[in-house]
Amino acid sequence: MTNGMVTQVETVWGWVLAAAQANRAGFDRTQPKAYAIDDSGRLVASTENVSRAVLDWIPGKGWVSRLPPEDVLIPLLDLYLPIASSHADAPVTIGHLGQSLDGFIAPATGDSYYVTGDENVRHLHRMRALCDAVIVGAGTIAADDPQLTTRRVTGPNPLRVVLDRTRRLDDQYGVFNDGQSPTLLVCGDSSKPAWPASEQVEILRIPTPDGELDLAALVAALRARGCARIFVEGGGVTVSGFLQARLLDRLQLAVAPLLIGDGRPAIRLPGAEMLGDCLRPAHRIFRMGDDILFDCLLMADGPAADKTNSEREGRPDIERIC
Ligand SMILES: NC(=O)c1ccc[n+]([C@@H]2O[C@H](COP(=O)([O-])OP(=O)(O)OC[C@H]3O[C@@H](n4cnc5c(N)ncnc54)[C@H](OP(=O)(O)O)[C@@H]3O)[C@@H](O)[C@H]2O)c1
Repeated sequence: MTNGMVTQVETVWGWVLAAAQANRAGFDRTQPKAYAIDDSGRLVASTENVSRAVLDWIPGKGWVSRLPPEDVLIPLLDLYLPIASSHADAPVTIGHLGQSLDGFIAPATGDSYYVTGDENVRHLHRMRALCDAVIVGAGTIAADDPQLTTRRVTGPNPLRVVLDRTRRLDDQYGVFNDGQSPTLLVCGDSSKPAWPASEQVEILRIPTPDGELDLAALVAALRARGCARIFVEGGGVTVSGFLQARLLDRLQLAVAPLLIGDGRPAIRLPGAEMLGDCLRPAHRIFRMGDDILFDCLLMADGPAADKTNSEREGRPDIERIC
């Protein structure tokens, strides 16, 4: 990207952050209104000088961009504004995985850095900034010791949530002691207290029916703590668990032009017998560097389904996207 484009992306990303923050703070969502950005980066209703407005709030739809449809920054707004539009009364849970062409998120050794490229990694940091909580499984902490912060973009760090049913992780991982952001360590109700909670780490025990953490109970507990936007960042076991429990509103799969051959799988669900019984979600497709992101809408009749269908009308059945 040229420096000019970096600045434009930063500006438009600032609108998205402001839109997300407005929904966190609360405002009159019952009225359609145009909003401009003030000097401190906040959205303000712009009834008198509508030409300064950058976004519209449309009740029942959410934030809508005022940029012309041909603007190169429209895809950024298309991708993030639906997430910034959610709030306590219309919460959202989104899963994401970066996978190879053959459906793996890491080799068997667990080495998963750079499955996807820089652009997708920046996307992860943006999703963390938009969401109130980011969830990962114990396998990811053990393999990557990730920070789960927003250091590559502007925006707040989320609450970090680690699923460790049996308390197998020791307290040496960064999320438990780096002072960057609070961490919620989620374990089974009968797991042993391996090490104590601290200023940074709160321990949440939830039921384990059938030996698995009750993910619906976890989502309910996070919502009760004010987490309207939840991001499930991996790995495959964790995202698959949320998908199987029908707790995801969106599933983002970033496919990298890479063949791993064998390793840690991306989504694994009990196999369907008939193709007609498989999930075939409405989706939008975004290019991120060399990777292709499928943004799958798992709620029925949502806006992405409408958009995908209307966008295809009048187009040839083969299009080259890069
Ligand atoms: N490319 C990507 O997008 C991406 C993203 C994240 C991670 N990764 C890579 O993926 C690998 C880790 O992924 P993974 O799929 O093996 O593991 P994972 O999803 O990170 O962690 C799985 C573990 O989390 C706990 N857990 C998750 N859901 C649970 C539930 N419903 N009930 C009980 N426990 C639950 C379990 O811990 P216990 O076994 O202790 O019960 C489970 O074994 C690493 O190599 C990491 O580098 C890749």
